[in-house]
Amino acid sequence: MMRKQIAAANWKMNLTLQQGEQLINDLLAKPHSLKENQQAIFAVPAPYLMMAQEKLGNKERVAVAAQNCYSKKSGAYTGEISVEMLQSIGVHYVVLGHSERREYFNESNPFLAEKIDICLANGVTPIFCCGEPLQIREAGKQNEFVGTQLNESLFHLSAADITKVVIAYEPIWAIGTGKTASSDQAQEMHAFIRAELAHQYGKETADQISILYGGSVKASNAVELFAQPDVDGGLVGGASLIADEFVAIINALK
Ligand code: PGA
Repeated sequence: MMRKQIAAANWKMNLTLQQGEQLINDLLAKPHSLKENQQAIFAVPAPYLMMAQEKLGNKERVAVAAQNCYSKKSGAYTGEISVEMLQSIGVHYVVLGHSERREYFNESNPFLAEKIDICLANGVTPIFCCGEPLQIREAGKQNEFVGTQLNESLFHLSAADITKVVIAYEPIWAIGTGKTASSDQAQEMHAFIRAELAHQYGKETADQISILYGGSVKASNAVELFAQPDVDGGLVGGASLIADEFVAIINALK
């Protein structure tokens, strides 16, 4: 099986409803080609999920994602969003463990493991983010750091379940900074992540898992990044808010 190549837009906390609608309309009006093994995913703010689902839900090879969900099934958790709610509006993807959630909302590896579990138990695909801060990279300890994130949040899963997870490697020093990891740095880490997956689950399973790169991906660097053998597309923040940029990023997928 050929693993999926994915261009995922992460709007973060940006745009009004009207601007979001306009962006999707602009994207749909531009020529883009998604081959059979390719997918475009739009992680939009929660209040816009239904709008995005209405506009994109029936399109082939296109999906809508939430930017977060809670670890509990339902109940007295004011302000949180359950997996069941996502399912009920036809949303089958959710970004989990983004570095901004880890940093500003104290999301830990074990807490994320709980979120991963409830998603998989309910047929929602997690896009699991990992990645090291600058001081860890400067100390040369990035593999150890990312290895621990994988270990503590994902490696309790069965081989059948791990193939349902999409991994996004996002070095924190490259997010929103305009400072992209070089394609060699991205490939090196992606190869390490795939080797860890292979060590845990075997090569055949590891080869099925899409590993996206995130951190200042733009039209001008996407082709080179996505050309790397273990880079299966990108998770894109800033450039996903500009229709021309994001379409070019979709068209850069292998
Ligand atoms: P960026 O964000 O593309 O704006 O660097 C990426 C992300 O945080 O997902």
